[in-house]
Amino acid sequence: MAPVATETTTPAPAHPVVKPGPVTPVYPQEDANFKRPPANTLRRYEKAGIDISQGYPYLPNKPEFVQDVEKLQTNLRDFVDPGTRADPEKKALFGAAKEVRDLSIHVGTEIVGLQLSELNDKQRDELALLVAERSVVFFRDQDLSPQKQKELGVYLGDGEIEIHPQVPQVPGVPGVTLIWERAREYIVKDTRGFRNAYPSGSYGWHTDLVHLAFPPGYTHLHQDTVPEVGGDTLWASGYSAYDKFSPAFRRILDGLNGIYRSAHQYKDANDPSAPARHVHIVHPLVRTHPVTGFKTIFANRAMTVGIEGLDKAESDAILNHIHDVYEKSTDLQIRWKWTPGTSAMGVSWDNRTTIHTVSYDYEGKGERHGTRVSSLAEKPFFDPKSKSRREALGLDA
Ligand SMILES: [Fe+2]
Repeated sequence: MAPVATETTTPAPAHPVVKPGPVTPVYPQEDANFKRPPANTLRRYEKAGIDISQGYPYLPNKPEFVQDVEKLQTNLRDFVDPGTRADPEKKALFGAAKEVRDLSIHVGTEIVGLQLSELNDKQRDELALLVAERSVVFFRDQDLSPQKQKELGVYLGDGEIEIHPQVPQVPGVPGVTLIWERAREYIVKDTRGFRNAYPSGSYGWHTDLVHLAFPPGYTHLHQDTVPEVGGDTLWASGYSAYDKFSPAFRRILDGLNGIYRSAHQYKDANDPSAPARHVHIVHPLVRTHPVTGFKTIFANRAMTVGIEGLDKAESDAILNHIHDVYEKSTDLQIRWKWTPGTSAMGVSWDNRTTIHTVSYDYEGKGERHGTRVSSLAEKPFFDPKSKSRREALGLDA
């Protein structure tokens, strides 16, 4: 039986009562122009006022020709590395942290209890010095908007960050690029149907954007979404790779120029029907870091394709040895396990002195979404008077 209605003397409100509460934005349907970011990313974007309603991610128009890419960033200013201004003891930075701990002897440090968004300029200078010295620095539990991340990157790049001409970016914040792979998207199928995240035996070790005339130095990745398990990132130290070689071999390497190629391929404006090709540039194979003064190997298997003046067989032999030592020496590497959940984590690394790769093992365990800002640095140079890290620090004394 239906309950008997009872009379009430309370008058009905003249207008419906609207209770205040969170507003759920309406997003477009998923299609070629809109992929829905992970939940943690959405929360971060909403807090930062990032508007993705016009499409996600933002994809700039790709440069078409080799000649267009060669023109990029060839006329930059003299770069002053913020690390050169820093207090060598880093008192402002370390004084604000709860804990600073090295993760291995040669590479990698974690700073605990510090928000990157709140650093003052003195602390930013000291952060640059720390990254220059330790090559990779990690920060947990970071609340960092894309806009603040860009601001830090512009500071560390002495006013310039890489505005990538073709990779996905955060809408409305040019230069904040996305590192985003949904589960299994990273696996490449070759013509035989063979599935491998890293075909050609390269294992993914690389340095970002080496084909630029002024390649990035300090680089910051903010991971706002990570898989439950897996997706670790690895870095290796070019300072320590150089230190692994005999003094006689180092003398052979010092002063050589490597030939570097772009990750992407482009058409030739003078012969548009020819197959697309990479952009090439020459940089010192051993470069000197402007802050530490240490020599570092500047080579990676994916993009260093030759040595100027040497026959192919000669440069292949030398480069393969360099790559083998750099990629396979566990004592000069660090492997970082991201923490799943709602906390976001950041890492700053020096693109001048490291190679990095990711462990693509999280098939079916979620996705990886992060934003990266690459601060541009100096034109790579080699100072014959500079020393190796071990020599400069007296580690062999
Ligand atoms: Fe990379």
